Parts: sequence; structure tokens; C-alpha cells
Amino acid sequence: MAVPEKTLTNEDLTKIVDTTEEWIETRTGMQVRHVAAEGEATSDLAIPAGRDALAAAGIAPEDVDLVLVATISPDMLFPSTACLVQHGLGCSHTGTFDVLAACTGYITVLATAKAYIEAGLAKTILVIGGDTITHYIDWNDRNTCVLFGDGAGATVLVADNEPGMLSIDLGSDGGQPGLLRIPGGGSRVPPKRRDVDPHIFCVEMDGKQIFRLATRVMSDSLAKALAAQDLHADEVKLVVPHQANVRILSAVAERLGIGFDRWIINIEKYGNTTAGTIPIALHEAVQAGRLEKGDLVAMVAFGGGLTWGTVLARW
Ligand code: ACO
Repeated sequence: MAVPEKTLTNEDLTKIVDTTEEWIETRTGMQVRHVAAEGEATSDLAIPAGRDALAAAGIAPEDVDLVLVATISPDMLFPSTACLVQHGLGCSHTGTFDVLAACTGYITVLATAKAYIEAGLAKTILVIGGDTITHYIDWNDRNTCVLFGDGAGATVLVADNEPGMLSIDLGSDGGQPGLLRIPGGGSRVPPKRRDVDPHIFCVEMDGKQIFRLATRVMSDSLAKALAAQDLHADEVKLVVPHQANVRILSAVAERLGIGFDRWIINIEKYGNTTAGTIPIALHEAVQAGRLEKGDLVAMVAFGGGLTWGTVLARW
């Protein structure tokens, strides 16, 4: 994993917008987040995260067949961030592409990697989730600016006779894009438009609605992924969730009957790093010795789109 050096505490935020340390911590669980410097882009985090993951797996860059990056804050519209990572790491024999699924991005690239391996199209895949979403935050908007941080995490997947990912559930509902989006900067309202409010190039969110939907779709998705394998919530050793709000996670934990002691939560240190939250939390779980071979791990996310999904894996 990699995060920018610069940090922003709740106290720092009280000097920027009308908020309090207490409001942010009690309403979200966040205390501090890492924030990209000007000119620091997503590949600046994805490359070191990828390099460390390859080193930990003992795999040479030239043995990677595919580089996948989940991000909604690519360095530029094209080339893809995956292409920049390919070059940065010296992965000399690989296909590359980015996946845009907001905070569900890492789950979506894991699902894609599984499909590539099972179809025999790749044997060794570098899967990265990361964002520098704070470049797209309106620092005058207290509804959003306290919630996000920047970071990336990386994983190496290799073909094996035993399946690691047992069950995948992916879902989406594009019917209400206004609930969570960056409306400008695409082909609908291109960046060259000067006659629009610059706020439209920043994250817009209906927090209350998202909170309600997130609680439901995360619970339903995880339950569906378990049912598909005839597994029970009791058998899950660790839940590695997308970290958007600790209260959302607590509601999902309660709905599923999976005690909070079986969740990895690091939102207090990083905030919501968008596609980075799950691989960063997974890395910290491994570092803390919370995953052993054979453990059942459930990764679950929701995000802009709306999108949601679960990967249930045997570690
Ligand atoms: N400081 C102080 N007050 C604030 C702040 C702030 N930073 N932000 C909002 N408020 C105010 C609002 O203006 C509102 O005031 P009003 O009632 O006078 O209009 C009030 O607080 C709302 O308070 P609550 O009802 O307590 O807010 P809530 O419990 O809904 O918490 C929050 C707000 C934290 C945004 C919550 O709704 C949330 O986390 N929603 C989900 C966010 C999320 O998951 N985003 C996903 C991003 S994922 C991706 O794909 C990018």
C-alpha cells in the first residue's frame, strides 16, 4: 500500500470549513486522512504499492501478464493509469486497462482478474485499487470534504489448482446518478467549458440517501455471496469492507450478525480512499496477522454508480 505523505486531521478541517472534530469523528469514525500534494497523481501511489506487492509475492515484473487498476481519479483520461504502472514497474509482457467502478472498483477488478485466470487468458495479474480523489473535492463543501483521503493498495493474483475466490456478487443501479457523482469533466460537460460553475468538477453527494442504500446493498450482497456457496456468516473469519463511514459498517455488521471483532476497520487513519480502501485494509490485516491460510475472508463494497459487490475468498 502507499499513501501520500501529507496528512489532514479533523482539527485541520475545522480551520477550512464550519465543522467540529467531534462531529466528524462521531458521524464518520474518521480522525486523519492522507492527501495528495499538488501534482501528485494516482500512479504515484499505485506504482510503489504494486512494486511492494510484487516483491512480497516474489514475482518479477516481467512475469506479470496483466495489470489492472481500479480508479476514478486516473492521472489523465488516457493513457490509462494501468499503462503508467506497467511502464513504472517494468512489466514488459503485459496487457493493461483501468476499471471505473468508484468505490466498488477493487471488487470489480478482482472479479475481472478471476475471470481472466479461469479463462486461461492470464496466469499472473497485478491488481491495484487506488485514488487521489481529494483533487476532485470542493474544500468549501463540508458535506464532502471531511470524508475523503488518498491511497492505493495492490495484490498479486496467480493461477492455482485451488480457487482462492469462491464467490462473487456484483450489482448496480444507474437510475440515480445524482446521488454520488462528479458531473463535469467528461464528454457531457467537457473541461473546456468555462461557462459552468467549477463545483461541477468536484464530488457531489446526497449523504443521507447513500448511507441508507449502502447499508442495504452491502448486507444483501454479502449475504448473497455466502448463500451462493452454502456458507454461513459464522464461518467468515474477517470482513474487509469499503471504508466510507464506520456507522454504515456497524449497521451492516448488525444486519448480518457478524461481530465487529471480525471486521478490519482503519477509517480513522485514512478516511475514504475510494478504490484504495479494501486493498489497503487487506494489507493491514495481513501485516497484523489477522489472516491465515484457509481463512474465509469477505470483501464488500458500494460506491458511485450506484455499484456494489462482494468477493468471498479462501485466503
Ligand atoms: N460538519 C458539521 N456539520 C455537517 C458536516 C460537517 N462536516 N457535514 C454535514 N453537516 C450537517 C449537514 O449540513 C446537516 O445539517 P442540517 O440538518 O442543518 O441540514 C447535518 O449535518 C446532517 O447531520 P446528520 O443527519 O447527522 O448527518 P448524517 O448522519 O447523515 O451524516 C454523512 C452525514 C457523514 C455524510 C453520512 O450521511 C454519510 O456518511 N453518508 C454516506 C457517505 C458515503 O458513504 N459516501 C460514499 C462515497 S463512496 C464513492 O463511491 C465515492
